[in-house]
Amino acid sequence: MGQTSRRGSGERDRLLDLENSLLIRKLRRQPTERTPVWFMRQAGRYLPGYQRIRKGMNFLDLCKDPDLAAEVTVEPLEVLNVDAVIIFSDILVPLEAMGLGVEFGDRGPCMSDPLSSRADIDALRVPDPVAETGFVMDVIRTVHRHVNGRVPVLGFAGAPWTLTCYALEGSPSRTFAAAQRMLYESPADVHVLMEKIADTVTEYLKAQIAAGANAVQLFDSWGGMLSHQAFDEFSLHYCRRILEGLDGCGVPRILFIRGAGSHLEKIARMVDEVGVEAVGLDEMIPPEQAIRVFGDRCALQGNLPPQALFAPQEDLLQRVRNLQEAFKDHPGHVFNLGHGILPPTPVPNVQAVVREIRGE
Ligand code: CP3
Repeated sequence: MGQTSRRGSGERDRLLDLENSLLIRKLRRQPTERTPVWFMRQAGRYLPGYQRIRKGMNFLDLCKDPDLAAEVTVEPLEVLNVDAVIIFSDILVPLEAMGLGVEFGDRGPCMSDPLSSRADIDALRVPDPVAETGFVMDVIRTVHRHVNGRVPVLGFAGAPWTLTCYALEGSPSRTFAAAQRMLYESPADVHVLMEKIADTVTEYLKAQIAAGANAVQLFDSWGGMLSHQAFDEFSLHYCRRILEGLDGCGVPRILFIRGAGSHLEKIARMVDEVGVEAVGLDEMIPPEQAIRVFGDRCALQGNLPPQALFAPQEDLLQRVRNLQEAFKDHPGHVFNLGHGILPPTPVPNVQAVVREIRGE
């Protein structure tokens, strides 16, 4: 029996109702009374509740505790009044389930044993997402109980290229030189690894959707560092495989490839071919350019620079209004940042942005 048929009728109604929420309608380019808003990395270090919970707890242990992870997930709804929550987890969770040792240090994620040979790649598993990462699905169900139909719950995963960067590099890096080198030294091995990651991520996102994710976002945070040919072969190709794999799952798919400004035409072609509902824009892409290239073939999400949240409030709100003006004729604009919220961001400024968008 599938997950859906096991749901009680109250739960089914709530999920059906969320189809009519502001964000989901906008992701489907349907008319809404105003622009929906949420922020990438909205559940995190700039929030006092998160800091309190995280003080006594290791990051991965927090991801694996559904009650606490749900509490962290819901904090931005209570504090900011955003139009969606994104589950508290990390893109590296499925890599651990594949058999890699993942640790979160002060400077970011590390692998205790980074991959260095074909034998290491062959030893990785394609895990059953419910058996190996069921805590993520528990977070989704627990968050739904807290949110109780107020806003949709977003699931997410890292795209294969970004996960490959971490798996091959082993430690935080700005250049991912080891991963980049392997693309040229042994591309066939990299493809074997990326096939496994793509299968893992597809099943992982399907499980999130079955557990109640109302939309999903695929993050290719390091896609922009590739040469134009490598971008097609290692970033876009695998994003496409995953998004195609989710076709028919019934929830909007958001593709966010950071640094993809020079590849927008190729992304637009893929969006057409696969029917992807929404594309996330980083802050380097001028809205006019995105609108010119994508037209209204998909929703567009973005793209206030995260640094703008440090500006004096009047200046910040003017930037918010300018961005809304730039997208005013687009049928599917979702307000977001161009990348994740930075840890020292002042909460009152984020609250002011939400109030401005809500017209309060
Ligand atoms: O968006 C949300 O609020 C949900 C939670 C979320 C986290 N990570 C929690 C987290 C999401 C969606 C992510 C995605 C993620 N993780 C990405 C893609 C998005 C992006 O920012 O490009 C990437 C590349 C990672 C990998 C990762 N995890 C890094 C590089 C780091 C350390 C540096 C940083 O930016 O925080 C993490 C740790 C991490 N993931 C924290 C949080 C709240 C900080 C942990 C802590 O120190 O308390």
